[in-house]
Amino acid sequence: MGAVTGYLLGRNLAFRHAPALANGLMRLTNVTGRGGDAEGDAALDYFEGVVEDYERIAAHAGVVEGDGHEPALFEGRTVLELGPGNTRAVAMLARLRGAKSVDGYDAFDLQTRDPSRLRALYAGLLKRAGDDPAKADALLAGGRVHHDAASLQATGRRYDLVISRAVLEHVRDLTKLHRELRELTTDDAVLIHKIDMRSHGFEWDHELDFLLFPEKLYRSITTHIGEPNRVRAQGYLDVAMQYGFTPVHVSSTRRISPERVAALRDSLAEPYRSLSPEVLSVLGIWLVLVREGHPLARAAKPVDLESIPVAPSGMAPF
Ligand SMILES: C[S@@+](CC[C@H](N)C(=O)[O-])C[C@H]1O[C@@H](n2cnc3c(N)ncnc32)[C@H](O)[C@@H]1O
Repeated sequence: MGAVTGYLLGRNLAFRHAPALANGLMRLTNVTGRGGDAEGDAALDYFEGVVEDYERIAAHAGVVEGDGHEPALFEGRTVLELGPGNTRAVAMLARLRGAKSVDGYDAFDLQTRDPSRLRALYAGLLKRAGDDPAKADALLAGGRVHHDAASLQATGRRYDLVISRAVLEHVRDLTKLHRELRELTTDDAVLIHKIDMRSHGFEWDHELDFLLFPEKLYRSITTHIGEPNRVRAQGYLDVAMQYGFTPVHVSSTRRISPERVAALRDSLAEPYRSLSPEVLSVLGIWLVLVREGHPLARAAKPVDLESIPVAPSGMAPF
């Protein structure tokens, strides 16, 4: 562990002093939620799946009408996608499904610098949808990826749908983000997050071994390299509720068994060691939230994280 920690400390320090290098390297290594190898048909499947999963989980949570295959989620919405990563494929598909506009909010500038790659991806998605493959620019016009909240504020837009996939676990300052989202959203907004709570990259022989590091050490090796923040489900609920976002649906996208948790639990750093095996067993969640003006806000029941349901079947695990 010592040698690995030394390497990680050095890498973090280099990225801290050279953010342009960090951005470039992330672009080169294709850091996305779909991994580095999803090109061609696999990339088309991925992005279609991401958008359909948002629709399905929204229908399941009851925030939109329909069976999840209807384009009801995006229709007429002013959408903010957190952490779009290296393409605007989700934005384009959301526009195709009726979104009024789609902006992105990404802390890093990861957009692919190769226009031909983006063109091929967008054309492929449009062709599959039975639409004009040359329509991507028109669909994406009127929205763009912003890198800070001030720039988003300047659009004058208030968003009534916020979506994110494989993003919140990378956000270091969740309080700041939620404060910004409070300012940027309408009072009946819906927020849908898919959060991957696994280790990203330095897992040795157990899914939870990234929780072995005491917080201060973990921060010193990861502040500038986009590793996950290690926040567990309760942390996401607490910060959301602090800013007036009410959870209306929480489900697990992946779990390990309580027995598997028990193999490492006593060695974990605090606060993880004190969490229950059930809570530690959850490695990913869907989180659907609404603001106070949404009809579901008042009827929402408290969430019991000791027994959250498994996500509806048929959706991608991450
Ligand atoms: C694993 S990638 C996921 C990309 C995309 N959503 C996907 O599924 O392929 C994480 C994304 O979150 C972005 N990100 C990290 N920290 C962020 C923050 N504080 N605010 C907004 N975006 C952030 C990263 O730059 C990156 O685009």
